[in-house]
Amino acid sequence: MANDTLTIIDNRTNRSYTLPIEHGTIRSMDLRQIKTGPDDFGLMGYDPAFMNTASCHSRITFIDGDRGILRYRGYNIEDLAENCTFLEVAYLLLNGELPTPEQRQEWVKQVTFHTMVHEGTRSFISHFRHDAHPMGILVSALAALSTVYPEAKNISDPECRRMQIVRLIAKTPTLAAYSYRHSLGYPIVYPDNDLSYTENFMNMLWKMVEPKYVANPVMARALDVLFILHADHEQNCSANAMRSVGSSQADPYLSAAGAASALAGPLHGGANEAVLRMLDEIGDVRNVPEYVKRIKEGKGKLMGFGHRVYKNYDPRARIIKQTAEDVFKVTGRNPKLDIAIALERVALEDEYFISRKLYPNVDFYSGIIYQAMGFKPDMFTVLFAIPRMAGWLAQWQELLEDREQKIARPRQVYLGHELRKVEKPRQTERAFVTR
Ligand code: ACO
Repeated sequence: MANDTLTIIDNRTNRSYTLPIEHGTIRSMDLRQIKTGPDDFGLMGYDPAFMNTASCHSRITFIDGDRGILRYRGYNIEDLAENCTFLEVAYLLLNGELPTPEQRQEWVKQVTFHTMVHEGTRSFISHFRHDAHPMGILVSALAALSTVYPEAKNISDPECRRMQIVRLIAKTPTLAAYSYRHSLGYPIVYPDNDLSYTENFMNMLWKMVEPKYVANPVMARALDVLFILHADHEQNCSANAMRSVGSSQADPYLSAAGAASALAGPLHGGANEAVLRMLDEIGDVRNVPEYVKRIKEGKGKLMGFGHRVYKNYDPRARIIKQTAEDVFKVTGRNPKLDIAIALERVALEDEYFISRKLYPNVDFYSGIIYQAMGFKPDMFTVLFAIPRMAGWLAQWQELLEDREQKIARPRQVYLGHELRKVEKPRQTERAFVTR
C-alpha cells in the first residue's frame, strides 16, 4: 500500500476505508462512501468559516503564516515591493510572469487607454447622497459597469475576459476617485493619460484649479508600494466571494461588486478604517494600557491585530512601517503613529496576545499612512479595493480555467424541525390602515 493514503475505521460499522492523500489533502467527496447503510447520505466534513478546507488548487499566491512569508507567483513580497511597480505586479498576478519590456509597454498602454468611464456611470455616481460611504458607491458603480458592458457575460471567451480585466484594472481608480470627489462636493477630474497609474489616481483625487497637478514622487511611490502589498492574499474573504459569485458564471463586474462588498466589512478590508477610529478613541499614549486591559476583558477587539493565516508577524505590516517613515518625511509625523507603536509594544509583550499569536496585520499601519497623505478614514477600504482588483481577477480567471471547479455550493447540517403541519384557525388576511 502506498504511504500517501489515509486509513479510516468507521466505528459505527467497523469498516475500514483507504483514501488517497494529495498535496496534504484528502478529497471531501471521498468521505461520501463512508455510510452506515444504503439510506445514509454519506459522511461530510463540517467546517464553518472554512477553517481547514481548501476550496481550490491555486498557483497565484503563497502564504506561510507561521514563518510570515507572502509570495506572488513565487516572488517574495519584499522583492516585488522594492523592485516593481503596481502595474507590473498586477500583470504578474494575472499572467503568471512579470512582463517583458514590450509586454509592459503594451499593458500600461492598454490600462491607460481604458481609464475613462462612461458619462452615464459618472452621472450615476453624482446621484448618491453627499455623505454616502465611498465603499458603497464603489460597490454600486462596479455592479453598474455590468450594464455598460453587457458583452462581459461571455465569460468563456478568453479575449472578452481579457478586455474586461483591463477595464476593471483601469477604471477602478477612476470610480474610487469619483466617489471621493463626490463625497467632498468637488467636481470630478477626468483621467490624464500622461500620468502613471498611481499619479493619475492622485490627480483625479486632488487636482483643484492648477493647470497641471504634479504628484509628489515619494507619495506616489508609497501609494504604489501600498498597492503592491494589497494586490492579492490567496483565499481571503473577498477572493472567496469573487470565486463564489463568479462560479455562478456572473460577469466579472457583478463578481467584483460581490468581492468588494466582502472587503467592506470591519473584519476584512474595513479594518484599516476601524484602526483609525480605535486610535482616535484611545486618544493618547497614556491610555494604551487601560485600552488593552479592556480588550483582554473581552470588550472589543484590537483592530488591525490578528489574522486567520498569519500566526507570526504579517510581512506586509513590516514593509508598511518602513513606507510610513518615508511618507512622514514629506507630510510630518502623524501623532497617531506614537499611539500605534505603544499599542503594538504593549500587545506584543502581553500573554493574552502572545498565546493567541496575535500580531499587527497589514491594516494596523496602512490607515495611519493614508491619513497622513490626506485621506479621510472612510476612503481607506476603497484604497484597498483598487489593488485587490488585480488579485480578485487573477483568482476569477484561475477559477474559470480550472476544469474541476463548478458552482460553489456548500452543504449544511440541518438541525431544524422534522416534518410538521400548519395548525391554526382559518383567518382572512386583511391589512388595517389607520387614517
Ligand atoms: N483583538 C483581541 N483578541 C482577538 C483579536 C483581536 N484583534 N483577534 C482575535 N482575537 C482573539 C479571539 O477573541 C479569540 O480568543 P479566544 O480563543 O479566547 O476566544 C482568539 O484570539 C482567536 O481568534 P479568532 O476570532 O478565532 O480568529 P479568526 O482567525 O477567526 O479571526 C480575524 C481572524 C477576523 C482577523 C480576527 O483576528 C479579528 O477580528 N481581527 C481584528 C480585525 C482585523 O484587523 N481584521 C483585518 C484582518 S487582515 C485583512 O483582512 C486585510
